[in-house]
Amino acid sequence: MSLPVEAQDELEQIITSIVDRYKAKPTALIMALQDIQKYYHYLPIEALKLIAKKMNLPVAQLFGVATFFKAFSLTPKGKHHMCVCTGTACHVRQAGVIVDNLSRSLGINPGETTPDGEISFETVNCIGACALGPVITVDDEYHGHMTVAKLNKVLDDLRGKKTAEEMVEEVQ
Ligand code: FES
Repeated sequence: MSLPVEAQDELEQIITSIVDRYKAKPTALIMALQDIQKYYHYLPIEALKLIAKKMNLPVAQLFGVATFFKAFSLTPKGKHHMCVCTGTACHVRQAGVIVDNLSRSLGINPGETTPDGEISFETVNCIGACALGPVITVDDEYHGHMTVAKLNKVLDDLRGKKTAEEMVEEVQ
């Protein structure tokens, strides 16, 4: 997915500062991509091309890394990201019910983002916390022994939660 034209200048500045931070070392590629993903909530194609140019790496190598690691996305994700584990241990403890309820509450399917860009969610196979199953993550925070009631509370909290930028805007 491409960025709007007006965002191109900003992109150039952001990529330059990220590449400078890592002194354009190819070994820092993953960290640079993590920074871009954190800023945009995904990896814009233009960013990959620019970073390849500045780090003197083949674009294909960046696409390879971007598509290999599940933490990276080439399509926009929401401001908040939720994962529902559907691995075996969670599956037998009704993870499917959590997925269905989350889909219904957000009005989206796994792998999608709400139209307001606030929340995206996906399913994953085992996130290494089987004893807590069924388990979900919200912005990398684990929530175990998930139930529909707990899920509703998590969603209420998330919708009421403001980002640091929103809080700064409010006090200005
Ligand atoms: S199966 Fe869900 S955390 Fe392992």
